[in-house]
Amino acid sequence: MSNRKMITAALPYANGPVHIGHLAGVYIPADVYARFQRRSGKDVAFICGSDEHGIPITIRAKKEGVTPQDIVDKYHEVIKKSFSDLGISFDEYSRTTSVNHRKTSQDFFKVLYEKGKFTEEMSEQYFDEQANEFLADRYIVGTCPNCGNENAYGDQCEKCGSTLSPSELINPKSMLSGNVPILKETKNWYLPLNEYEDFLNKWIIEGHKDDWKPNVYGQVKSWLTDGLKPRAMTRDLNWGVPVPLPNAEGKVLYVWFDAPIGYISFTKEWAEKNGKDWKDYWQSENSDLVHFIGKDNIVFHCIIFPAMMKAHGDYKMPKNVPAFEFLNLENDKISTSRNWAVWAHEYVEEFPGQQDVLRYALLSSAPETKDNNFTWKDFQTKNNSELVNKFGNFINRVISFTNKNFEGKVPNGTLDEESKTAIKTGIEKVSYHLEKYEFRNALNSFMELVDYGNLYLQNAEPWKTIKNDPNEAGQSMFVGAQIAAVVAQLCEPFMPFTAEKLFGYFNIEKKNWEELQNSEIQIETGHKIEEAPLLFTKIEDNVIEAQIQKLENTKQSNKKTNSNANPMKEEIQFDDFTKIDLRTATIIEAEKVEKADKLLKLTVDTGVDVRTVVSGIAESFTAEEVIGKQVMILLNLAPRKIRGIESQGMLLLTTKPDGKLSFVTPDDSNVENGIEIG
Ligand code: MF3
Ligand code: ZN
Repeated sequence: MSNRKMITAALPYANGPVHIGHLAGVYIPADVYARFQRRSGKDVAFICGSDEHGIPITIRAKKEGVTPQDIVDKYHEVIKKSFSDLGISFDEYSRTTSVNHRKTSQDFFKVLYEKGKFTEEMSEQYFDEQANEFLADRYIVGTCPNCGNENAYGDQCEKCGSTLSPSELINPKSMLSGNVPILKETKNWYLPLNEYEDFLNKWIIEGHKDDWKPNVYGQVKSWLTDGLKPRAMTRDLNWGVPVPLPNAEGKVLYVWFDAPIGYISFTKEWAEKNGKDWKDYWQSENSDLVHFIGKDNIVFHCIIFPAMMKAHGDYKMPKNVPAFEFLNLENDKISTSRNWAVWAHEYVEEFPGQQDVLRYALLSSAPETKDNNFTWKDFQTKNNSELVNKFGNFINRVISFTNKNFEGKVPNGTLDEESKTAIKTGIEKVSYHLEKYEFRNALNSFMELVDYGNLYLQNAEPWKTIKNDPNEAGQSMFVGAQIAAVVAQLCEPFMPFTAEKLFGYFNIEKKNWEELQNSEIQIETGHKIEEAPLLFTKIEDNVIEAQIQKLENTKQSNKKTNSNANPMKEEIQFDDFTKIDLRTATIIEAEKVEKADKLLKLTVDTGVDVRTVVSGIAESFTAEEVIGKQVMILLNLAPRKIRGIESQGMLLLTTKPDGKLSFVTPDDSNVENGIEIG
């Protein structure tokens, strides 16, 4: 068995905050695994960082009207903080816009280039003439040729999971303008994945049938059966790592080429700071590489990145790629764009000090083998019936009884055979399942030991025996304390904040797994146990209802209330708005414009001056009707001549369902003219 564990968690795109789907499907399990391996005495490097290139970033930047750099600077910090708030114990959390990453990924590319691993191909790529940009990956959508999904991306169909190239899409459409793109010739560098089929078949299909998860193995097998095609490793884009070759202006590395190299770059950064050699983790026989990912990343981690590493020649293949399925929220697909999510940073704010409750709830419904569902009701039940009533209750019984009756010191006693076995089995089962990436089973085994502890005390009834036989009660509490100490140790990978508290209450140190297994007595007679507050607190109905209401509000605001309403115009900044000078004004004179059915010539008191406005309202109002009306005027609109009359400004109007116009007016008659609106 290898002594080192090189553990990676998929680099999240820095185009938005992380939500419970990310946490349950990648980061919390990866963290539990890393913590467990550290406790098992392994030399662990647990590495992650923000994925800051690629089209998800530029699309978000366009949407928010800022630069891609602004986007990644903002979300890198938000994401990093959420991870640290939730106790995700990365040894390094860096970013792919770092100087080191640019160099590392360019060097990697150059090695492959110099070894002749790429083919250089001129090809016709889709191009958006209006946006003047090539359309790669997520800049283009169309119908998936494999499953008919009409919203497949240029690089992948999220419905059936197949990788695509833009030319395979049926009815392609530009995400930038919505236009049908044209084809334009360009040069790119391709990795002929087909040449790696034999290698991949041998390594995965023959070598990992039994130790990889069936969902991962099955997907890889079906791709290999279908056959692989050369895939472009460069793109014509202006956001990304520049292709390190002469005459490659305007070309960057494909984001799925540079991002996984991020794992390596960030290991280098960590190693540098800690006096380690990064190669020991990536290129040594004595190291296991394990990638934690979501199921949409399988092809990149099991086929493309391994082929890249194989082409390079110096790297070891991953030992395992535990990929998770997806987590739904209240029976609906989690979606960033629909804001259908529980956001990590919001949870941390709204449930202060309750990070472990989320960790527990997400682990116990981790989508290990199939998609799973998170509901707030479930979350409440898990907290109230499992953490409060079982785990918290057991700990509280031991702590308070010992303090009340034995001056807070572990009484005299011996460990009975049954309890000894329960403890031993508990430790073994938790390790066994964690080693096999079975997080839910591991958590269940942990809770079984908690249940045993509660049952033990229930049967022993020290609160009764204390009256007539204090020694007997002491014996029971001695056993209770041993179980509690093991529970404290075992909960650390799952619930590190709780473990920290327990180590404090019981005055114990975090133990290595082997030490834990080998020591029968965890906590000696006479050892001091501190008084302590309750470990978990009940979550009340109103708290849960507020969360459900929040989701309900999201649902409502996602519903378009008027199906005839035009979509929102392009977003503007506050400064754009302040340029507009809107005022209250009163129409003081009105007359029809000759030979123009629609126009009225109005004299308007704007508070600032009296001016003439020509307005197309004659089909909705007579001249007499509008005199004396208070209205709103766009004051600083450049004057223009209408039918020979100079119109100075524009009145605000809306249209009623019958097509007639109506003035926008203040809803209170006490407003003077010339008051600014805003
Ligand atoms: N950013 C990608 C995603 O969220 C994952 C990148 S993983 C890496 O789907 F291997 F490329 F780093
Ligand atoms: Zn498809």
